Amino acid sequence: MARITILPSNATAEVADGELLVEAGEQAGVEMEAGCFNCSCGTCAAEVVSGMENLSPATDEELDVLDQWNKDPEKYRLTCCVKLLHGQATLRAGH
Ligand code: FES
Repeated sequence: MARITILPSNATAEVADGELLVEAGEQAGVEMEAGCFNCSCGTCAAEVVSGMENLSPATDEELDVLDQWNKDPEKYRLTCCVKLLHGQATLRAGH
């Protein structure tokens, strides 16, 4: 199992290893912002406060979208196409 925490509400949930961040956030009871669910619009970008090392690696597609939004990929990820592989991660929802 993995653990997701969403700021600022500090909502948390235990989720299956490999869960998509957007789904993990919903399981924590947070209404996650998202549009395309296809790694192309950037609506779902969220700041990763901790646990970046536990997330699935960025694809070229994700890096392109983050670049269009001027989001640093070292700090922001697209929650609709990134998985929490194991361990814990803390995100800050919203832009
Ligand atoms: S919802 Fe569009 S990129 Fe994630």
